[in-house]
Amino acid sequence: MVNCIEVRDLFFSYEEGTQALKGINLDIKKNSRVAILGPNGAGKSTLLLHFNALNLPQTGKVRVEDLEVSKKTEKIVRTKVGMVFQDPDDQIFSMTVREDVSFGPLNMGLSSEEVVVRVESALRAVRIEDLADKAPYHLSYGQKKRVAIAGVLAMRPDIIIFDEPFAYLDPRGKKGLLQILGDLSEEGKTIVIATHDVDLAAEWADKIVVIQEGKVLAEGDKGILIDPYIIEQADLDFPTVAKIFKELPEDGDFFFPMTIEEAVSKIKRIIRRNN
Ligand SMILES: Nc1ncnc2c1ncn2[C@@H]1O[C@H](COP(=O)(O)OP(=O)(O)O)[C@@H](O)[C@H]1O
Ligand SMILES: [Mg+2]
Repeated sequence: MVNCIEVRDLFFSYEEGTQALKGINLDIKKNSRVAILGPNGAGKSTLLLHFNALNLPQTGKVRVEDLEVSKKTEKIVRTKVGMVFQDPDDQIFSMTVREDVSFGPLNMGLSSEEVVVRVESALRAVRIEDLADKAPYHLSYGQKKRVAIAGVLAMRPDIIIFDEPFAYLDPRGKKGLLQILGDLSEEGKTIVIATHDVDLAAEWADKIVVIQEGKVLAEGDKGILIDPYIIEQADLDFPTVAKIFKELPEDGDFFFPMTIEEAVSKIKRIIRRNN
């Protein structure tokens, strides 16, 4: 499989001196679902901002598809990588939802017919067609989040980055967002999210990258989420399901569930065996 993002020896310091990234190396494959996990302040947002050239590498390189991220390529990088910020209020500023979602594609210089097609399909994708003429500031947090996502989708990027997408969403909002993320993966998009939600990472991601103090502490499949060293070092928690199964006696079945679905199938096996 082809990498669509490559990060090599990336360092980044903020002007006042905080060294936020201290030598990050990372590959992200096309059409993968990547969760970047780490405690607050680990450098997740700083890293994500490099993927769509809102931060430019100070030392090291970031490659997006066939482009090296730099001042010269930032505009075209932003057509390939869309970013959904943590707070939708940082992203939404127009008077109506439709106008807001049109902003990106209009800026790309597309024809007005093409913009209309893209906006309608983006609104449909996040199921907010009925909100198109509303003022964003009248919407709920979850609805605003969808508007922000639609604005990114309308630009049709190959790679979509979400910074803490599940923060402050209610259960229905979370479920809806998971559905949207699933649809996007099926369409062939590459999805990267930053989160400290290990349950979500276990449910959703096919690659996990744990970041701590500006460095990659571990990467791999969700198996790393039950590695006590990694979880402790990164001030994370085990997935809830894993916490329960850790307390149960060894039963000769080495399959260790991390998601509800996996737990259910393991419990069913145990019940069958005991009947
Ligand atoms: N705009 C900024 N100016 C100065 N320091 C910042 C800024 N943004 C983040 N930092 C610092 O950089 C480090 C990494 O922050 P951040 O990337 O936001 O981490 P995370 O997203 O994992 O919580 C932290 O020490 C944070 O205080
Ligand atoms: Mg952050």
